[in-house]
Amino acid sequence: MHKLLGLPALAALATAMMGGCSPSGTTTTAATTAAATTPTPAPAPTPTPTPTPTPTPTSAVAQFTTLNLAAPDNYAAPTLPAYYDGTVTALDNSPATNAIADRIATLGRVLFYDRRLSVNDTIACASCHQQGAGFADRARFSTGFAGGQFTSAHSMRLGNVRYFAPGTMFWDRRATSVEAQASAPIQDSVEMGWTAAAGGIAALITKMNAIAYYPELFTFAFGNATITEDRIQRALAQFERAMISAASRFDTGFAAVFNAGAPNRGLNADFPNFTAQENRGKTLFLSNQGNCSACHVPPTFALAANSRSNGLDAGETRLFKSPSLKNLGLDGAFMHDGRFATIEQVVEFYNSGIQDGPALDNRLQQGGVPRRLNLSDADKAALAAFLRTLDDPSLSTDSRFSSPFR
Ligand code: HEC
Ligand code: HEC
Repeated sequence: MHKLLGLPALAALATAMMGGCSPSGTTTTAATTAAATTPTPAPAPTPTPTPTPTPTPTSAVAQFTTLNLAAPDNYAAPTLPAYYDGTVTALDNSPATNAIADRIATLGRVLFYDRRLSVNDTIACASCHQQGAGFADRARFSTGFAGGQFTSAHSMRLGNVRYFAPGTMFWDRRATSVEAQASAPIQDSVEMGWTAAAGGIAALITKMNAIAYYPELFTFAFGNATITEDRIQRALAQFERAMISAASRFDTGFAAVFNAGAPNRGLNADFPNFTAQENRGKTLFLSNQGNCSACHVPPTFALAANSRSNGLDAGETRLFKSPSLKNLGLDGAFMHDGRFATIEQVVEFYNSGIQDGPALDNRLQQGGVPRRLNLSDADKAALAAFLRTLDDPSLSTDSRFSSPFR
């Protein structure tokens, strides 16, 4: 899926490149051989010295990636729909110290797709966060660098990750920011393997210093070739925050009815591009009955800051978060442990399966007990159909977020 070069391929390329880069050495050898084997008639005509060819400046970035550093892609200033106004930017978890710059996000793209960021060159961030799967992994659990070992949680979709206002990351919110999160999979003993025993991030940085394109890319992004954990985190976070989903069928419909001054900003009106079933599902999602939008907030569908847990297990005390529901239909498993394989199972859970516990949000209770929606089959199907309108083929195919490797 990602065109990533494994170590043998890289070594072969590097060898080929070095051979091609030593023209003067080749010339000298040829001249010496000729002098030794040709009988010398006197006087020998002085051969016109062959001018040493000027070596073509070799860019390792150009060798290994399709990036055009002279014209980096636009990550910093995307064109967003009118309804991505102050009500949405207020939720943005980008720190002022790490606003997106095209060059740094471009470095982030390389880091995100580079299998060499794992100890044995097998796993990239993108192995478990695949663009075509909404930047998640369709498998319930993801395979780590060693193969045969799996993550204990389902991978999370990354679209609209910037709009979860608290900025805390992972299902259980244990990472404080998108930046801080980036080190976790790198150091994880299952995921990418740079554990303390393997030398940690310091060992990764030593490795990266010896990978031809990184000094060049860090200079491009940050002005000098110094590789630090902080710079790795910042670049990855910028690339991830640039993954905005605003081109689903939901977005087309909302753009058509958006009115900043209308109740609920026009969202309650039927969308002209929706089927009657999808509009019915939208109504359920937004209504006090379904109340889904109280936690999964349109138009980003990132989770509300004040959301508590949704009652998957009786007695649950942990406070979980959800990634944005955008691109749900491209994912293959749902909830932190990927327990549901279909959107229909998710809907049935909210309809009849919510369990009581200390972490259960009161929006999912009625009269002090877990609520039961008692939806008809038609309404359940409508809710599922609406959730599928959140799929965003634009984000899942945008070349700016694809592998930059040749
Ligand atoms: C082996 C699979 C795997 C790899 C490799 C991996 N991830 Fe993840 N990622 C996951 C899983 C699983 C979760 C959820 C883990 C949890 O919550 O405990 C996750 C969660 C995340 C989240 C949290 C999203 C949110 O909304 O809270 C971010 C961000 C993320 N990963 C980015 C990255 C980056 C950046 C890399 C590379 C440096 C990476 N991941 C490498 C599997 C992986
Ligand atoms: C109180 C806030 C809240 C409400 C209300 C709520 N949810 Fe959730 N939702 C969550 C949380 C928290 C999670 C993550 C749970 C976990 O995995 O532990 C979640 C997870 C999900 C997921 C899975 C996301 C994924 O990436 O796997 C879907 C789909 C979903 N909710 C849809 C709905 C629908 C549809 C409704 C309305 C019927 C709804 N939610 C109502 C808080 C809420």
